[in-house]
Amino acid sequence: MKNKLLELLKTTNGYLSGENIGELLGVSRTAVWKYIKILREEGYNIQAVTNKGYCLMPTDDVLSSIEVKLGLNTKTIGTQVIYFDTVDSTNNKLRLLALEGAAEGTVVIADEQLGGKGRRGHVWSSPKGTGLWMSVLLKPNIAPQEASRITLVAGLSVCQAINDVLGINSGIKWPNDIIIDGKKVCGILTEMNAQINNVEFVVVGIGVNVNTDIFPEELKDIAVSLSQIAGVKVKRSKIARAIIERLEQNYNKYTQKGFLSVKEEYENRCITINKNVKVISKDGFNGRAIAINDDGELIVEKADGERVTVFSGEVSIRGV
Ligand code: BTN
Repeated sequence: MKNKLLELLKTTNGYLSGENIGELLGVSRTAVWKYIKILREEGYNIQAVTNKGYCLMPTDDVLSSIEVKLGLNTKTIGTQVIYFDTVDSTNNKLRLLALEGAAEGTVVIADEQLGGKGRRGHVWSSPKGTGLWMSVLLKPNIAPQEASRITLVAGLSVCQAINDVLGINSGIKWPNDIIIDGKKVCGILTEMNAQINNVEFVVVGIGVNVNTDIFPEELKDIAVSLSQIAGVKVKRSKIARAIIERLEQNYNKYTQKGFLSVKEEYENRCITINKNVKVISKDGFNGRAIAINDDGELIVEKADGERVTVFSGEVSIRGV
């Protein structure tokens, strides 16, 4: 009912009386008032004027399950979108839901994370109301060593989604940092539950800096937000929807036809290729990234011509 009321208000120009709304939705005026109150609590600015009724005022950026699902064009991902005001980490929350049997495609989003997790044990700064902190549950029929390709698929999807919504080009720093103007706008943390031979589920955690105005001191030179690039506030729900839609397309391609089916699109956006890089690992080394192979791994050529396949982990591009 709440969703129907929101849709009605969104598609109405001007005011609608409580009586009219009640008739259109088949509920009492008291019920209409109850749902108006719920929507207001969720952040919608609904004006009530005597003798005129209710009118939904343009809102900056409400993040909610309804907002994300309105007009969402997918079959599996986002069928269930669960919103929290505050969580420790959307990845942790979704992992617990997955252990309780949540369906493939379940999405968890939050307005704020108190324990946002980055890769390699880093903290992911996730202040209230500024970013898209979202995790997606996938259950691919793959071996654990193939799971890192899901991360590449997710990176490609974010890149495309930013372009879909804002017409802004971004690049992917292998494996999955999304970069604009040399700064990071999105990071992805993929975690999985697996047996030796097969993956039970994968939680793809996506953090996008959407409307961040000021970054903490330690991030200000390396991070950027979409609003800083676009010069306007950006609706997080729009970005979420676009990512979910792209992710479903790319994930279906990947699960049905393998990584090769998305490799070219990934490579076209990968800014690591043809750059001098530093591979950060136990036996770290410098070299030049020359290609992505058919399994999504990075091929790096050392100064002596030896080619090394980098499976996962941290690769820094000199100067980025
Ligand atoms: C990175 O680049 O280090 C990965 C950052 C991933 C952040 C996202 S925000 C949503 C999800 N929940 C988390 O705790 N982390 C991921």
